[in-house]
Amino acid sequence: MKKIAVLGYGVVGSGVVELFYRNRAKIEKNTKTELDIAYILDLREFPDDPYGNRVVHDIQTILDDPEVGYVAECMGGVNPAYQFVRSCLEAGKSVATSNKQLVAEKGDILLQVAKEHHVNFFFEASVGGAIPIIRPLHTCLAANDISEVAGILNGTTNFILEKMFCDKMKFADALALAQKLGYAERDPSADVDGEDACRKICILSSLVFEKHVYPECVYTKGIRDISLEDVQLAQSFGCAVKLIGAVKRLEDGKILPTVMPMLVPFESSLLSHVNGVFNAVMVWGDGIDKTMFYGRGAGKLPTASAVLGDIIDEIKQTDTVLSQTWASSDNNNFVASMDAFTAPRCYRTTSCAPGVFAKVADAVGAKMEQTAENGCIIASCSQKTASVFADALKKEGVSVLAQIPVLED
Ligand code: HSE
Repeated sequence: MKKIAVLGYGVVGSGVVELFYRNRAKIEKNTKTELDIAYILDLREFPDDPYGNRVVHDIQTILDDPEVGYVAECMGGVNPAYQFVRSCLEAGKSVATSNKQLVAEKGDILLQVAKEHHVNFFFEASVGGAIPIIRPLHTCLAANDISEVAGILNGTTNFILEKMFCDKMKFADALALAQKLGYAERDPSADVDGEDACRKICILSSLVFEKHVYPECVYTKGIRDISLEDVQLAQSFGCAVKLIGAVKRLEDGKILPTVMPMLVPFESSLLSHVNGVFNAVMVWGDGIDKTMFYGRGAGKLPTASAVLGDIIDEIKQTDTVLSQTWASSDNNNFVASMDAFTAPRCYRTTSCAPGVFAKVADAVGAKMEQTAENGCIIASCSQKTASVFADALKKEGVSVLAQIPVLED
Protein backbone atom coordinates (compact mmCIF):
# COMPACT_ATOMS: atom_id res chain seq x y z
CA MET A 1 0.00 0.00 0.00
CA LYS A 2 1.30 3.45 -0.98
CA LYS A 3 -0.16 6.56 0.57
CA ILE A 4 -1.02 9.79 -1.19
CA ALA A 5 -1.45 13.15 0.56
CA VAL A 6 -3.44 16.06 -0.84
CA LEU A 7 -2.46 19.61 0.17
CA GLY A 8 -5.45 21.97 -0.02
CA TYR A 9 -9.08 20.84 -0.08
CA GLY A 10 -10.50 23.55 -2.33
CA VAL A 11 -11.86 23.16 -5.86
CA VAL A 12 -8.88 21.24 -7.27
CA GLY A 13 -7.93 19.29 -4.12
CA SER A 14 -11.48 18.02 -3.64
CA GLY A 15 -11.53 17.12 -7.35
CA VAL A 16 -8.38 15.02 -6.89
CA VAL A 17 -10.00 13.12 -4.02
CA GLU A 18 -13.29 12.67 -5.92
CA LEU A 19 -11.66 11.44 -9.12
CA PHE A 20 -9.24 9.15 -7.25
CA TYR A 21 -12.03 7.31 -5.44
CA ARG A 22 -14.22 7.24 -8.55
CA ASN A 23 -11.48 5.50 -10.58
CA ARG A 24 -9.38 3.94 -7.83
CA ALA A 25 -9.51 0.38 -9.17
CA LYS A 26 -8.42 1.52 -12.63
CA ILE A 27 -5.60 3.66 -11.20
CA GLU A 28 -4.37 0.77 -9.02
CA LYS A 29 -4.44 -1.59 -11.99
CA ASN A 30 -2.57 0.92 -14.14
CA THR A 31 0.15 1.44 -11.52
CA LYS A 32 0.11 -2.14 -10.21
CA THR A 33 0.07 -0.55 -6.76
CA GLU A 34 -2.45 -0.47 -3.93
CA LEU A 35 -3.15 3.17 -3.17
CA ASP A 36 -5.07 5.32 -0.73
CA ILE A 37 -5.38 8.99 0.09
CA ALA A 38 -4.22 9.01 3.69
CA TYR A 39 -4.14 12.74 4.43
CA ILE A 40 -5.81 15.93 3.28
CA LEU A 41 -4.05 19.03 4.58
CA ASP A 42 -6.26 22.06 5.10
CA LEU A 43 -6.74 24.76 7.75
CA ARG A 44 -10.46 24.00 7.83
CA GLU A 45 -12.46 21.05 9.21
CA PHE A 46 -14.86 19.19 6.92
CA PRO A 47 -17.13 17.30 9.38
CA ASP A 48 -19.80 16.47 6.77
CA ASP A 49 -17.39 15.39 4.05
CA PRO A 50 -17.03 11.62 3.41
CA TYR A 51 -13.26 12.05 3.57
CA GLY A 52 -13.30 14.56 6.45
CA ASN A 53 -11.59 12.03 8.74
CA ARG A 54 -8.42 12.30 6.63
CA VAL A 55 -8.06 16.04 7.24
CA VAL A 56 -4.93 17.14 9.10
CA HIS A 57 -3.70 20.64 9.85
CA ASP A 58 0.04 20.14 10.23
CA ILE A 59 2.32 19.34 7.26
CA GLN A 60 4.63 17.55 9.71
CA THR A 61 2.10 14.68 9.99
CA ILE A 62 2.61 14.04 6.26
CA LEU A 63 6.36 14.57 6.33
CA ASP A 64 6.75 12.14 9.23
CA ASP A 65 4.84 9.29 7.57
CA PRO A 66 7.32 7.27 5.48
CA GLU A 67 4.47 5.47 3.69
CA VAL A 68 3.43 8.71 1.98
CA GLY A 69 5.27 8.57 -1.33
CA TYR A 70 3.19 11.02 -3.38
CA VAL A 71 1.80 14.44 -2.65
CA ALA A 72 -0.75 16.43 -4.68
CA GLU A 73 -0.24 20.15 -4.01
CA CYS A 74 -3.45 22.05 -4.79
CA MET A 75 -3.17 24.99 -2.39
CA GLY A 76 -2.19 27.75 -4.81
CA GLY A 77 0.08 30.70 -4.06
CA VAL A 78 3.76 30.59 -3.17
CA ASN A 79 3.57 30.72 0.61
CA PRO A 80 3.39 28.32 2.33
CA ALA A 81 3.15 26.02 -0.72
CA TYR A 82 6.83 26.50 -1.61
CA GLN A 83 8.09 25.45 1.81
CA PHE A 84 5.65 22.53 2.02
CA VAL A 85 6.56 21.22 -1.44
CA ARG A 86 10.26 21.65 -0.83
CA SER A 87 10.01 19.77 2.48
CA CYS A 88 8.08 16.93 0.82
CA LEU A 89 10.70 16.59 -1.93
CA GLU A 90 13.51 16.66 0.65
CA ALA A 91 11.69 13.93 2.55
CA GLY A 92 11.78 11.75 -0.59
CA LYS A 93 8.16 12.25 -1.63
CA SER A 94 7.29 13.07 -5.26
CA VAL A 95 4.98 16.04 -5.72
CA ALA A 96 2.40 16.82 -8.41
CA THR A 97 1.09 20.37 -8.44
CA SER A 98 -1.60 22.44 -10.14
CA ASN A 99 0.02 25.60 -8.78
CA LYS A 100 1.27 27.67 -11.71
CA GLN A 101 2.45 30.56 -9.56
CA LEU A 102 4.69 28.18 -7.64
CA VAL A 103 6.16 26.65 -10.81
CA ALA A 104 6.57 30.01 -12.57
CA GLU A 105 8.37 31.57 -9.60
CA LYS A 106 10.19 28.63 -8.00
CA GLY A 107 10.14 25.83 -10.58
CA ASP A 108 13.90 25.83 -11.22
CA ILE A 109 14.68 25.45 -7.50
CA LEU A 110 12.09 22.75 -6.89
CA LEU A 111 13.22 20.77 -9.95
CA GLN A 112 16.77 20.88 -8.60
CA VAL A 113 15.64 19.73 -5.14
CA ALA A 114 13.66 16.88 -6.73
CA LYS A 115 16.75 15.81 -8.69
CA GLU A 116 18.94 15.86 -5.59
CA HIS A 117 16.48 13.55 -3.82
CA HIS A 118 15.75 11.25 -6.79
CA VAL A 119 12.05 12.08 -6.80
CA ASN A 120 9.80 13.97 -9.21
CA PHE A 121 8.18 17.39 -9.23
CA PHE A 122 5.49 17.24 -11.93
CA PHE A 123 3.13 20.06 -12.94
CA GLU A 124 1.00 18.98 -15.90
CA ALA A 125 -2.04 20.63 -14.29
CA SER A 126 -0.32 24.00 -14.03
CA VAL A 127 -0.83 24.79 -17.74
CA GLY A 128 -4.03 24.17 -19.66
CA GLY A 129 -5.93 22.29 -16.93
CA ALA A 130 -6.90 18.93 -18.42
CA ILE A 131 -4.82 19.33 -21.59
CA PRO A 132 -1.72 17.17 -21.83
CA ILE A 133 0.93 19.72 -22.85
CA ILE A 134 3.89 19.54 -20.44
CA ARG A 135 4.52 15.83 -20.98
CA PRO A 136 4.03 15.91 -24.78
CA LEU A 137 6.50 18.79 -25.05
CA HIS A 138 9.34 16.84 -23.43
CA THR A 139 8.42 13.36 -24.61
CA CYS A 140 6.37 13.02 -27.84
CA LEU A 141 7.78 16.24 -29.37
CA ALA A 142 11.30 15.79 -28.00
CA ALA A 143 12.78 15.17 -31.45
CA ASN A 144 11.80 18.67 -32.62
CA ASP A 145 13.49 22.03 -32.52
CA ILE A 146 10.52 23.97 -31.13
CA SER A 147 10.55 27.58 -32.28
CA GLU A 148 7.23 28.93 -31.06
CA VAL A 149 4.32 28.22 -28.75
CA ALA A 150 1.12 30.28 -28.66
CA GLY A 151 -2.20 29.64 -27.06
CA ILE A 152 -5.24 30.48 -25.07
CA LEU A 153 -4.00 29.73 -21.58
CA ASN A 154 -6.68 31.25 -19.35
CA GLY A 155 -10.18 29.83 -19.27
CA THR A 156 -11.76 32.69 -17.34
CA THR A 157 -10.79 35.40 -19.81
CA ASN A 158 -11.68 33.17 -22.76
CA PHE A 159 -15.10 32.60 -21.20
CA ILE A 160 -15.55 36.35 -20.64
CA LEU A 161 -14.47 37.28 -24.17
CA GLU A 162 -16.82 34.71 -25.66
CA LYS A 163 -19.74 36.00 -23.58
CA MET A 164 -18.95 39.54 -24.78
CA PHE A 165 -18.63 38.33 -28.39
CA CYS A 166 -21.66 36.02 -28.63
CA ASP A 167 -24.07 37.30 -25.98
CA LYS A 168 -23.01 40.97 -25.78
CA MET A 169 -22.74 40.34 -22.05
CA LYS A 170 -21.13 43.01 -19.91
CA PHE A 171 -17.61 42.28 -18.69
CA ALA A 172 -18.56 42.31 -14.98
CA ASP A 173 -21.51 39.90 -15.44
CA ALA A 174 -19.41 37.45 -17.42
CA LEU A 175 -16.66 37.56 -14.77
CA ALA A 176 -19.21 36.92 -11.99
CA LEU A 177 -20.49 33.88 -13.89
CA ALA A 178 -16.94 32.54 -14.38
CA GLN A 179 -16.33 32.91 -10.63
CA LYS A 180 -19.57 31.11 -9.84
CA LEU A 181 -18.51 28.21 -12.07
CA GLY A 182 -15.17 27.91 -10.20
CA TYR A 183 -12.94 28.93 -13.13
CA ALA A 184 -11.48 32.16 -11.79
CA GLU A 185 -8.47 32.54 -9.51
CA ARG A 186 -9.01 33.47 -5.84
CA ASP A 187 -8.24 37.01 -6.90
CA PRO A 188 -9.76 37.25 -10.41
CA SER A 189 -7.53 40.18 -11.30
CA ALA A 190 -4.86 37.50 -11.85
CA ASP A 191 -7.05 36.22 -14.70
CA VAL A 192 -8.24 39.55 -16.05
CA ASP A 193 -4.85 41.29 -15.93
CA GLY A 194 -3.05 38.41 -17.58
CA GLU A 195 -0.90 37.27 -14.61
CA ASP A 196 -2.27 33.73 -14.72
CA ALA A 197 -1.54 33.39 -18.45
CA CYS A 198 1.86 34.98 -17.82
CA ARG A 199 2.73 32.28 -15.27
CA LYS A 200 1.69 29.60 -17.75
CA ILE A 201 3.76 31.03 -20.61
CA CYS A 202 6.72 31.24 -18.18
CA ILE A 203 6.36 27.50 -17.55
CA LEU A 204 6.06 26.60 -21.24
CA SER A 205 8.96 28.93 -22.18
CA SER A 206 11.19 27.48 -19.45
CA LEU A 207 10.45 23.92 -20.52
CA VAL A 208 10.90 24.54 -24.25
CA PHE A 209 13.94 26.82 -24.07
CA GLU A 210 15.47 25.09 -21.01
CA LYS A 211 16.12 28.21 -18.90
CA HIS A 212 13.86 29.63 -16.23
CA VAL A 213 11.77 32.52 -17.55
CA TYR A 214 10.49 34.61 -14.64
CA PRO A 215 7.12 36.40 -14.73
CA GLU A 216 8.73 39.86 -14.58
CA CYS A 217 10.45 39.20 -17.95
CA VAL A 218 7.16 38.69 -19.78
CA TYR A 219 5.33 41.60 -21.42
CA THR A 220 1.85 41.14 -19.93
CA LYS A 221 -1.37 42.94 -20.79
CA GLY A 222 -4.80 41.67 -19.74
CA ILE A 223 -8.30 42.15 -21.14
CA ARG A 224 -9.51 44.91 -18.81
CA ASP A 225 -9.40 47.52 -21.59
CA ILE A 226 -11.13 45.39 -24.21
CA SER A 227 -14.52 46.91 -25.01
CA LEU A 228 -17.57 45.63 -26.82
CA GLU A 229 -16.63 48.02 -29.65
CA ASP A 230 -13.22 46.32 -30.00
CA VAL A 231 -14.85 42.91 -30.14
CA GLN A 232 -17.38 44.08 -32.73
CA LEU A 233 -14.72 45.72 -34.92
CA ALA A 234 -12.68 42.51 -34.76
CA GLN A 235 -15.77 40.57 -35.83
CA SER A 236 -16.26 42.87 -38.83
CA PHE A 237 -12.66 42.06 -39.84
CA GLY A 238 -13.34 38.30 -39.53
CA CYS A 239 -11.53 37.88 -36.24
CA ALA A 240 -12.17 36.99 -32.60
CA VAL A 241 -10.40 38.73 -29.73
CA LYS A 242 -8.46 36.27 -27.55
CA LEU A 243 -5.98 36.61 -24.71
CA ILE A 244 -2.90 34.99 -26.25
CA GLY A 245 0.14 33.77 -24.33
CA ALA A 246 3.01 33.23 -26.71
CA VAL A 247 6.75 32.69 -26.89
CA LYS A 248 8.85 32.80 -30.01
CA ARG A 249 12.55 32.36 -30.73
CA LEU A 250 13.78 35.35 -32.75
CA GLU A 251 16.46 35.40 -35.43
CA ASP A 252 19.13 36.54 -32.96
CA GLY A 253 18.42 33.49 -30.77
CA LYS A 254 16.66 35.44 -28.01
CA ILE A 255 13.13 34.52 -27.02
CA LEU A 256 10.16 36.86 -26.75
CA PRO A 257 7.43 35.74 -24.32
CA THR A 258 4.25 37.84 -24.33
CA VAL A 259 0.70 37.85 -22.99
CA MET A 260 -1.79 40.22 -24.62
CA PRO A 261 -5.21 40.40 -26.25
CA MET A 262 -4.90 39.72 -29.96
CA LEU A 263 -7.19 39.53 -32.95
CA VAL A 264 -7.30 35.94 -34.18
CA PRO A 265 -8.55 35.40 -37.77
CA PHE A 266 -11.37 32.87 -38.13
CA GLU A 267 -10.18 31.75 -41.52
CA SER A 268 -6.55 30.99 -40.77
CA SER A 269 -6.35 30.13 -37.07
CA LEU A 270 -7.99 27.28 -35.16
CA LEU A 271 -7.39 29.27 -31.97
CA SER A 272 -10.18 31.66 -33.01
CA HIS A 273 -12.68 28.82 -32.61
CA VAL A 274 -11.66 27.93 -29.04
CA ASN A 275 -14.48 29.13 -26.84
CA GLY A 276 -15.70 29.16 -23.27
CA VAL A 277 -13.42 27.77 -20.58
CA PHE A 278 -11.51 25.72 -23.14
CA ASN A 279 -7.80 26.34 -23.68
CA ALA A 280 -5.65 25.46 -26.66
CA VAL A 281 -1.91 25.49 -27.21
CA MET A 282 -0.32 25.58 -30.65
CA VAL A 283 3.28 24.35 -30.93
CA TRP A 284 5.55 24.94 -33.93
CA GLY A 285 8.52 22.59 -34.48
CA ASP A 286 10.78 21.69 -37.37
CA GLY A 287 9.47 18.12 -37.55
CA ILE A 288 5.81 18.64 -36.79
CA ASP A 289 5.15 21.95 -38.55
CA LYS A 290 2.40 22.78 -36.05
CA THR A 291 0.30 20.80 -33.61
CA MET A 292 -2.59 21.97 -31.45
CA PHE A 293 -3.54 20.71 -27.99
CA TYR A 294 -7.10 21.46 -26.89
CA GLY A 295 -9.27 20.85 -23.84
CA ARG A 296 -10.79 22.20 -20.67
CA GLY A 297 -8.37 24.70 -19.20
CA ALA A 298 -9.91 25.07 -15.76
CA GLY A 299 -12.38 23.50 -13.37
CA LYS A 300 -12.44 20.88 -10.67
CA LEU A 301 -12.24 17.48 -12.39
CA PRO A 302 -10.35 18.59 -15.54
CA THR A 303 -7.52 19.95 -13.37
CA ALA A 304 -7.73 16.98 -11.00
CA SER A 305 -7.34 14.67 -14.00
CA ALA A 306 -3.94 16.22 -14.78
CA VAL A 307 -2.80 16.12 -11.13
CA LEU A 308 -3.69 12.44 -10.82
CA GLY A 309 -2.09 11.68 -14.19
CA ASP A 310 1.15 13.06 -12.74
CA ILE A 311 0.80 11.01 -9.55
CA ILE A 312 0.25 7.88 -11.65
CA ASP A 313 3.39 8.65 -13.66
CA GLU A 314 5.37 9.37 -10.48
CA ILE A 315 4.42 5.96 -9.11
CA LYS A 316 5.89 4.35 -12.22
CA GLN A 317 9.13 6.36 -12.32
CA THR A 318 12.09 4.98 -10.45
CA ASP A 319 14.15 8.20 -10.56
CA THR A 320 13.86 11.88 -11.55
CA VAL A 321 12.66 12.43 -15.12
CA LEU A 322 15.41 14.74 -16.33
CA SER A 323 13.78 15.70 -19.63
CA GLN A 324 11.17 17.64 -17.68
CA THR A 325 13.57 20.11 -16.17
CA TRP A 326 15.38 23.37 -16.87
CA ALA A 327 18.20 25.46 -15.50
CA SER A 328 18.00 28.54 -13.31
CA SER A 329 18.81 31.77 -15.14
CA ASP A 330 21.08 34.25 -13.43
CA ASN A 331 20.37 36.94 -16.02
CA ASN A 332 17.61 37.67 -18.48
CA ASN A 333 19.82 38.44 -21.47
CA PHE A 334 18.21 35.64 -23.43
CA VAL A 335 14.80 37.37 -23.27
CA ALA A 336 14.18 40.05 -25.94
CA SER A 337 12.41 43.32 -25.18
CA MET A 338 9.10 44.34 -26.74
CA ASP A 339 11.03 46.56 -29.18
CA ALA A 340 11.61 43.33 -31.10
CA PHE A 341 7.89 42.53 -31.38
CA THR A 342 6.42 42.48 -34.88
CA ALA A 343 2.80 41.74 -35.87
CA PRO A 344 -0.04 43.09 -37.96
CA ARG A 345 -2.07 45.67 -35.97
CA CYS A 346 -5.71 46.52 -35.70
CA TYR A 347 -6.55 50.14 -34.85
CA ARG A 348 -9.98 51.18 -33.60
CA THR A 349 -10.39 54.85 -34.27
CA THR A 350 -12.78 57.74 -34.35
CA SER A 351 -14.69 58.02 -37.62
CA CYS A 352 -12.34 58.20 -40.61
CA ALA A 353 -13.12 59.45 -44.14
CA PRO A 354 -12.64 56.99 -47.04
CA GLY A 355 -9.06 56.85 -48.31
CA VAL A 356 -7.43 58.43 -45.24
CA PHE A 357 -6.20 55.14 -43.71
CA ALA A 358 -4.58 54.10 -47.00
CA LYS A 359 -3.00 57.53 -47.54
CA VAL A 360 -1.47 57.55 -44.04
CA ALA A 361 -0.24 53.96 -44.39
CA ASP A 362 1.49 54.87 -47.67
CA ALA A 363 3.11 57.90 -46.08
CA VAL A 364 4.67 55.90 -43.21
CA GLY A 365 5.61 52.80 -45.22
CA ALA A 366 2.93 50.53 -43.77
CA LYS A 367 0.79 48.16 -45.82
CA MET A 368 -2.97 48.52 -45.44
CA GLU A 369 -4.89 45.24 -45.20
CA GLN A 370 -8.47 46.04 -44.19
CA THR A 371 -10.43 49.16 -43.44
CA ALA A 372 -13.78 50.08 -41.89
CA GLU A 373 -15.34 53.41 -41.04
CA ASN A 374 -13.91 53.20 -37.48
CA GLY A 375 -10.74 51.17 -37.85
CA CYS A 376 -8.20 49.32 -39.97
CA ILE A 377 -5.63 46.55 -39.99
CA ILE A 378 -2.09 47.14 -41.24
CA ALA A 379 0.29 44.33 -42.23
CA SER A 380 3.01 43.04 -39.91
CA CYS A 381 5.29 45.82 -38.75
CA SER A 382 7.61 46.83 -35.92
CA GLN A 383 6.56 48.59 -32.74
CA LYS A 384 8.09 51.77 -34.12
CA THR A 385 6.10 51.73 -37.38
CA ALA A 386 2.94 50.92 -35.40
CA SER A 387 3.30 54.04 -33.28
CA VAL A 388 4.40 56.24 -36.20
CA PHE A 389 1.20 55.16 -38.00
CA ALA A 390 -0.94 56.06 -34.96
CA ASP A 391 0.75 59.49 -34.68
CA ALA A 392 0.25 60.15 -38.39
CA LEU A 393 -3.47 59.30 -38.08
CA LYS A 394 -3.78 61.81 -35.28
CA LYS A 395 -2.31 64.53 -37.49
CA GLU A 396 -5.15 63.77 -39.93
CA GLY A 397 -7.66 64.31 -37.11
CA VAL A 398 -8.29 60.58 -36.52
CA SER A 399 -7.74 59.41 -32.91
CA VAL A 400 -6.70 55.86 -32.09
CA LEU A 401 -9.01 54.48 -29.38
CA ALA A 402 -7.45 51.02 -29.24
CA GLN A 403 -4.54 49.22 -30.87
CA ILE A 404 -4.57 45.40 -30.82
CA PRO A 405 -2.00 43.14 -32.52
CA VAL A 406 -3.20 40.39 -34.85
CA LEU A 407 -1.97 36.81 -34.40
CA GLU A 408 -0.13 35.45 -37.43
CA ASP A 409 -0.39 31.74 -38.06
N1 HSE B 1 -8.14 30.76 -13.38
C1 HSE B 1 -7.54 29.83 -14.27
C2 HSE B 1 -8.22 29.93 -15.63
C3 HSE B 1 -7.70 28.45 -13.71
O1 HSE B 1 -9.28 30.56 -15.71
O2 HSE B 1 -7.70 29.43 -16.60
C4 HSE B 1 -6.90 27.41 -14.39
O3 HSE B 1 -5.53 27.67 -14.33
